[in-house]
Amino acid sequence: MTSRWCVCATLLLLACQVSAVARDGRAHANLARRPSVPKVSAPEGPVTSRNGSTIPPYTTVYYFDQLIDHTNPSLGTFQQRFWHTWEYYEPGGPIILFTPGEVNADGYSGYLNNRTLNGLIADQQNGATVVLEHRFYGLSNPLPDLSSQSLRLHTIQQAIDDLEYFAKNVNLPMPGGDEVAPGKAPWILIGGSYSGALTSWTMVNKPGLFEAGYASSAVVEAITDYWGYFEPIRQFMPSNCSADVAAVITHIDSVFSSGDQAQIKEIEKTFNMTLSHLDDFAGALRNNLWDWQSLQPDSGAGAQFFDFCDALEVKDGVSAPASGWGLDHALSAWGAYWTNTYYALVCGDQSAEECLGTYDPTQSFWTNTTIDNSDRSWEWIVCNQVGFYQDGAPADQPTIVTRLVQPSYDERQCTYWFPEAFSTPPVPNVDAVNKDYDGWFVNIDHLFFANGQRDPWRESTVSADGTNFQSTASRPIAVGDGFHCSDLLTSNTVDSTIVRVQEEGLASMKAWLATWKPSA
Ligand SMILES: *[C@@H]1O[C@H](CO)[C@@H](O)[C@H](O)[C@H]1NC(C)=O
Ligand SMILES: *[C@@H]1O[C@H](CO)[C@@H](O)[C@H](O)[C@H]1NC(C)=O
Ligand SMILES: *[C@@H]1O[C@H](CO)[C@@H](O)[C@H](O)[C@H]1NC(C)=O
Ligand SMILES: *[C@@H]1O[C@H](CO)[C@@H](O)[C@H](O)[C@H]1NC(C)=O
Ligand SMILES: *[C@@H]1O[C@H](CO)[C@@H](O)[C@H](O)[C@H]1NC(C)=O
Repeated sequence: MTSRWCVCATLLLLACQVSAVARDGRAHANLARRPSVPKVSAPEGPVTSRNGSTIPPYTTVYYFDQLIDHTNPSLGTFQQRFWHTWEYYEPGGPIILFTPGEVNADGYSGYLNNRTLNGLIADQQNGATVVLEHRFYGLSNPLPDLSSQSLRLHTIQQAIDDLEYFAKNVNLPMPGGDEVAPGKAPWILIGGSYSGALTSWTMVNKPGLFEAGYASSAVVEAITDYWGYFEPIRQFMPSNCSADVAAVITHIDSVFSSGDQAQIKEIEKTFNMTLSHLDDFAGALRNNLWDWQSLQPDSGAGAQFFDFCDALEVKDGVSAPASGWGLDHALSAWGAYWTNTYYALVCGDQSAEECLGTYDPTQSFWTNTTIDNSDRSWEWIVCNQVGFYQDGAPADQPTIVTRLVQPSYDERQCTYWFPEAFSTPPVPNVDAVNKDYDGWFVNIDHLFFANGQRDPWRESTVSADGTNFQSTASRPIAVGDGFHCSDLLTSNTVDSTIVRVQEEGLASMKAWLATWKPSA
């Protein structure tokens, strides 16, 4: 088997990047958030290898001939993009493979160098790093569109098989790059968020292929009714803010469920917004909470999420006590913030119905099957396999999110995205995913889990509340005070608990690789 690689013109790269940003823009503001790794770019320009050679820039694009369908190799191959450097490599060192998962991978080359933990591991172990674009994202498409028919080849198992086929067949564009298949060199798989889960799932599904794995904020357990997304947010946001948000949501849910038109109009006036469906209205308020996902330890007080809490909690220069100001002030303050500041940030000049309405299946948002639309590709996995619907808590739990939004709200939308596949709202087959790849109950050697207390995705990781998975030397679980995938970024060393997680990860890699011996 041979692989092919070529260098893309810088100009073309820039063009790709600009359009990817536009397509990845928030097309629809009531769509559940994706479990995604932070975007980290690397410096441009030539790179210097260990022996002083000038080697290609991090942004150089390479192509691998990947199988279209691992269950039917006769269908041939497609070009899967990857990025690579041998900056830290010395013969005998590991190959460190990473996919950013459900995004166009352009702009993630920071996962090649020491802006990320990947680079620190490479530096320590004399390894070569690779960033591989996941099938059906960006420009790595087995088939030319994202129709339901094409997406049948988009499954977790096909993605796992891609990683195996890449490792076994790639000819890395570096000296000796055709002599580093697993067995000849140790391979390390790294991922964060969905790709962190993919790391765990791959280690379970392909035992022995990767000598070691590092899974950051790995959402290993697929969960349909994922109200737990908002639990770490509720627990760690300022308590005055959570108390007031809960009070507003309880009030809105009660008014919207009562059918009292005068009171409903009053709320619409407060937020200067009307929508034909009240669940869309109440669900839209999740946007202020979703902002939590982009927080990192070094996010300043100016971060959007804290701006929101300040708007609710600071009155005439005075902060509310821990119990908040109460419903009346919180409701009018949230409404004013939404009207004067926030709506434009989320919806630009779109109408509320265009931006936040989810009941018009003819919107191009649902029907456009052009490639490089990560929302659409991810929704296919959501609707079929993982769910992760971010909705209100059960009635016996406090909630900071409307209970009018339940999994059925998102399952209905699956029939708009993929009418050919779903004539009725589908329930994702999370049980099969959790059974096939062990979910929370993963117990595989040489797999390092790193989690953050304040991560909104923590409830689907092995550090979820109510679970008690023990950390062991061969399957460690390290938890810092970080947010989502905080340990992957070397910029987060402002937090000493994250430094500790990174150091433990590096020590595990060192110990595990020390015992590796070639088998081929
Ligand atoms: C469909 O999506 C592509 C890629 O994002 C975009 O270029 C095109 O304009 C869209 N078409 C419509 C009809 O919205
Ligand atoms: C560095 O190592 C590579 C691979 O062995 C070799 O091709 C290159 O000539 C070396 N460069 C220097 C400056 O020694
Ligand atoms: C990354 O590498 C550069 C260049 O070698 C070095 O100056 C910097 O200190 C390194 N950063 C980290 C976090 O190791
Ligand atoms: C209220 O919303 C309308 C659009 O529905 C907009 O034209 C108007 O400027 C908004 N009012 C304020 C005070 O922002
Ligand atoms: C109250 O809210 C302010 C503004 O967001 C925040 O700085 C402060 O920490 C909060 N205090 C408490 C006790 O929750």
